[in-house]
Amino acid sequence: MIFTIDIVSIKKQLAAEAAIEMIEDGMIVGLGTGSTSSIAIDLIGKKVSEGLNILGIPTSKASENQATSLGIPLTSLSTHPSIDLAIDGADEVSPSLDLIKGLGGALVREKIVENQSKKLVIIIDDSKLVPQLGACPLPVEIIFFGHESTSTSLASLGCTPVLRMDGDKPFISDNGNVIYHCTFPNAISNPSDLALKIEKIPGVVTSGLFVNMADIVLVGSDDGLQTLKRS
Ligand code: 5RP
Repeated sequence: MIFTIDIVSIKKQLAAEAAIEMIEDGMIVGLGTGSTSSIAIDLIGKKVSEGLNILGIPTSKASENQATSLGIPLTSLSTHPSIDLAIDGADEVSPSLDLIKGLGGALVREKIVENQSKKLVIIIDDSKLVPQLGACPLPVEIIFFGHESTSTSLASLGCTPVLRMDGDKPFISDNGNVIYHCTFPNAISNPSDLALKIEKIPGVVTSGLFVNMADIVLVGSDDGLQTLKRS
């Protein structure tokens, strides 16, 4: 019998295990979206079944469904507007811990939840560490009305925006909007400036640039766990 070891999953698991050690009894916990967050949610579900007392706030319908199926009690930002700790993945992490997020399509709820979190812990495998953001496309969520013309305003910022598809139809986010994946040919030299320019465009909900938000990045690598902290 041949066993294949999925190294990337092991790295994600390492980061997720370290993150859930930061959860304390009584906390309000933001639950991220994506394959790495899903490992963390599974681990939280196990801890809850063993008696951990927390309330989760999911960043997507997928995370909500997973948490519910595991018996993790949930609350909302209306009831608990301040979150103790949010745990989420990322698509890219720069040396200053700025992020590109949202290739899983959940960027808006992630940004809302994580903006309300006292501490944001990002869990990644080491392939997500980049010298400069922008090797992957930047997701931007846009209101459906007039989205084609909104995308031309995005293009005027120097990128090529491509509508995210779900088969032969536009992908629709949990918020009922479309998402454009924007490729910047020369990467992103000034993420905070770009984030402001994108968010000024009427029709844009938000971009996947998470600037100055991550407090800690836990990185699973060949050498074990690496912990990066924002200075
Ligand atoms: C979803 C996200 C995810 O956190 C990001 O895409 C990373 O996902 P994965 O852990 O599957 O690599 O931002 O909107």
